[in-house]
Amino acid sequence: MNTLFQPFKLNETLTLNNRIVMAPLTRCMSDEDLVPTDAMVEYYGRRADTGLIITEATLISADGQGYPNTPGLFTDKQIEGWKKVTQRVHQNGGKIFAQLWHTGRVAHPSFFGGDKVIAPSAIGVEGTVPRMRHLTYLTPTPASKEEIQRLVADFAKASQNAIEAGFDGVEIHGANGYLIDQFLHYSSNQRDDEYGQTAENMSRFALEVMDAVVEAIGADRVGLRLSPGAYFNVEADPRDRDVFDYLLKQLEARDLAYLHVGIFDDAMTFEHLGGTASQYMRAQYSKTLIGVGGFDAQTGNEAIEAGKFDLLAIGRPLIANPDYVEKVKSGQALTPYSEEMLTSLV
Ligand code: FNR
Repeated sequence: MNTLFQPFKLNETLTLNNRIVMAPLTRCMSDEDLVPTDAMVEYYGRRADTGLIITEATLISADGQGYPNTPGLFTDKQIEGWKKVTQRVHQNGGKIFAQLWHTGRVAHPSFFGGDKVIAPSAIGVEGTVPRMRHLTYLTPTPASKEEIQRLVADFAKASQNAIEAGFDGVEIHGANGYLIDQFLHYSSNQRDDEYGQTAENMSRFALEVMDAVVEAIGADRVGLRLSPGAYFNVEADPRDRDVFDYLLKQLEARDLAYLHVGIFDDAMTFEHLGGTASQYMRAQYSKTLIGVGGFDAQTGNEAIEAGKFDLLAIGRPLIANPDYVEKVKSGQALTPYSEEMLTSLV
């Protein structure tokens, strides 16, 4: 597993100690003001021997919240809270990016007050908020052009806040059926203005966000996670392929830090993508790609050596094993992940 443990030069400003990335993992453990706690400082600090930590998804604005106690990066208190996390990770020799999100139609007003949620189109998700079954999802209100401009500006501002909080960069969460991803799929975007109906229009919001964030903090510090195969919170449509073909071509022309596959199990294949999510993204995008989804150190190392992606993100095994890197390096057995582990931060 030599390749995995070699340093990796992401760009002129960032070199990672190894190719293992901590995948973003929502833990719902920030305080009532959505500020990271001391337990979160310890939790991230313990995992600083991964080449790069990507934080749990972190809110750009109050109205993006869809799960309890997810942290934010839009108030001074939240910035101060994150400073403690980034300082600890840096003290321990690591690098850390903040994953920034707005959940769009998966948000719920019970978290932030108000009476509506915004999304590309008035098409809701079925069901109730996880762990809060009394909260049924609302039919969203299509975002006005002013609201779209405000959301783009919120992503840029949260990115600046992340730099102020000491992060090495940000990952824009364009995956897993949340706001940005909702613009990229036909089943959730039926707009008839310049944000809908064609590949170029449906990619517009994602690209406006990326351009605003790059303008705010520089391309070297910006990654993007995408789910070309809709598999969570949104339904697939074969026409989505054109949207991602176009979007990935546009992204290829921007010198981002990386793209990251948004998937739970990368063995899953999508007919309209002609294979797995990572195979499709690699074929359309030649720059740094982070693979993820059901890999262990062995299979991940093999995939990197075969050129399938460049960096390996590890999610659930890193919840179960804070000392994942050390254990893998020294050949120790890993503690298996189980969902009960989600109730405490170790
Ligand atoms: C996740 N995942 C995830 N993805 C993301 O982009 N932002 C997030 O906040 C979260 N939160 C999250 C919480 C929990 C409890 C799990 C299990 C997963 C997805 C995650 O980043 C990763 O893609 C998957 O876990 C697949 O990788 P592993 O676990 O097979 O290595």
